Amino acid sequence: MPEKKTASNFTSILHEDRVFPPHAEFSRKAHIKSLAEYKRLYRESITSPEKFWGRHAKSELVWDRPFKKVMTFKVPDAKWFIGGRLNVSVNCLDRHLETQHANKAALIWEGEPAPDGKPGEERTLTYRQLHREVCRFANVLKRQKVGKGDRVLLYMPLVPEAAIAMLACARIGAVHSVVFGGFSAQSVADRIKDSGAKVVLTADGGYRRGAIVPLKKNVDDALKIVGPDGKSLTSSIQSVIVLRRTFHDIHIEEGRDVWWHRELEYVDDECPPVSLDSEDPLFILYTSGSTGKPKGIYHTTAGYLLYTKMTSKYVFDMKPEDVYWCTADIGWITGHSYLVYGPLANGATAVMYEGAPNWPEPDRFWRMIQRHNVTIFYTAPTAIRTFMKWGTEWVKKHDLRSLRLLGSVGEPINPEAWMWYHEVIGGGRCPIVDTWWQTETGGILISPIPGATPTKPGSATLPFFGIVPEVVDEAGKVVPPNTGGKLVIRKPWPSMLRGVWGDKQRFRDVYWKEVKGSYFTGDGCRRDKDGYFWIVGRIDDVLNVAGHRIGTAEVESALVSHPSVAEAAVVGRNDELKGQALVAFVTLKGSVKMDGDLREVLRNHVAREIGPVAKPDDIRFAEALPKTRSGKIMRRLLKQIASGVEIVGDTTTLEDLSVLSRLSQSEE
Ligand code: PRX
Repeated sequence: MPEKKTASNFTSILHEDRVFPPHAEFSRKAHIKSLAEYKRLYRESITSPEKFWGRHAKSELVWDRPFKKVMTFKVPDAKWFIGGRLNVSVNCLDRHLETQHANKAALIWEGEPAPDGKPGEERTLTYRQLHREVCRFANVLKRQKVGKGDRVLLYMPLVPEAAIAMLACARIGAVHSVVFGGFSAQSVADRIKDSGAKVVLTADGGYRRGAIVPLKKNVDDALKIVGPDGKSLTSSIQSVIVLRRTFHDIHIEEGRDVWWHRELEYVDDECPPVSLDSEDPLFILYTSGSTGKPKGIYHTTAGYLLYTKMTSKYVFDMKPEDVYWCTADIGWITGHSYLVYGPLANGATAVMYEGAPNWPEPDRFWRMIQRHNVTIFYTAPTAIRTFMKWGTEWVKKHDLRSLRLLGSVGEPINPEAWMWYHEVIGGGRCPIVDTWWQTETGGILISPIPGATPTKPGSATLPFFGIVPEVVDEAGKVVPPNTGGKLVIRKPWPSMLRGVWGDKQRFRDVYWKEVKGSYFTGDGCRRDKDGYFWIVGRIDDVLNVAGHRIGTAEVESALVSHPSVAEAAVVGRNDELKGQALVAFVTLKGSVKMDGDLREVLRNHVAREIGPVAKPDDIRFAEALPKTRSGKIMRRLLKQIASGVEIVGDTTTLEDLSVLSRLSQSEE
């Protein structure tokens, strides 16, 4: 029996040995009802993958033309459902129009509430209405000469039009690339250059805690940026389609910018879907890696759709009657796979919320769960820790009995947060699915199956069907239980990334070189004696700040692009709320004087270069950085300094030992 924990002993648990078996009542109604059933299906998916995936691809998806072969794989290239043709928007929308779901809500959207606490705008789109809007906007794209294979960049607030635009691209075979609204003009320009996008979709602004995020202004700035060679970074752009959201004044560039609502006046409601090859690209999504240049991860059509549909169905136990709320923004992979494609492919109702969790008050989320009778809630550990800090009283004001399942994603969830989520939000009755995955994996790879898997707080537990994860050492050999190592995936799966856009070599180098023949995740992990996976975090120079992936090299290159900075090294330190925080060590150019404002100037400079998400939490100035005699910055030492721990380990290769003591004293 699970040990009953109360709020008072959450923090005192160092060793995690609690096990929570699924409730019989949940299992009885679940898609997968027992551990034995999970194990049987898992075994089949590993021993006969072609049979397993072929069967599900036929039963779960609607095809224009059946596939001839389930898959081929030659490191690093996988192809799935070869020869098949289909359309993602048909699988998410049209197929439901023939069923009793046609007039049920597909999307329930709430805008940010007004500063005086008045409820925000609310819109519900049924499957039939969403289908119509997608067709209309697909026709707008066609009017702007967007066709199959063209790239479309979205830089939008979290409004229904963002999902409509993604599905409209999918309908005509255009490739969307969503850039999170918290990224800067420079980031937008870099992504336009890399993807060669033809059109930008944006809005006059978005709302965030009562303030307006100037999305269109940032696009205007992005389109003016020139590269070091003096040439525009964005010459591929032919038009900008602007949604009216905030109604404040913005610049409209004649001949380039058009209003979304005006364009809709010219088009009709019918748009025949383009029949696409299984392996035609569906989207590009940029993510951080360990070099300064963001990687355009791209996913293709059939494998991605099947995998996000099946993981939504089995991991979230999703059914058409569910009201499912994923709090992620569509700018991240979670918003793609589990806010738009997965839930809609399953005919569920997806809730979308534009604003912040504490606007106007810290009970915003709980109010929404009660109001919409949310049954499945999916959020990030950083949010859960923040809710804990705000206090249980905000939760208690609302009736959360509609909830039946909770999910977590983005970073390891600490057992204290898991227990709080379980007891306070889930009322002790909702299973928690701690889902491990990545932008690159397209969908969830390691997670409990809620009616089947006994859960352990802090562990993502066991692999999904067809997934063979292992924990290996430097030589690529599997390590014994409870030993740390690198997490690799041994076999291909349908929604794996197909590459890094325009950079085949980087695809090979980053994912396929580290451990021969296997996909390298970049994460550290251990597996316990029951085979459960415990993800430790990144082992490369990528940090996980409040559930967002930030490459230290990107922040470093933003810092050194400031005229005052000579050198910069960025490392992570543990942070109670955000998981990790960014600490930058900076040396200044000879003539520059360190004054009080410079810290803020540099933080703002990083916000301008990358976006507010990448602002260092702490900047420490130093005369020099600790380097080896061969000139490599010793990050291990900087991490220890950043965390305020005593420096241990070998410092014999350090070039100048006195640097260390001076750095330790340079704290604010
Ligand atoms: O380190 C892992 C962490 O987030 C990384 C992937 O980040 P991103 O591509 O932005 O995708 C986030 C949403 C899927 C992983 O390499 N991560 C994600 N989920 C978990 C996690 N770490 C531990 N437990 C998780 N459940």
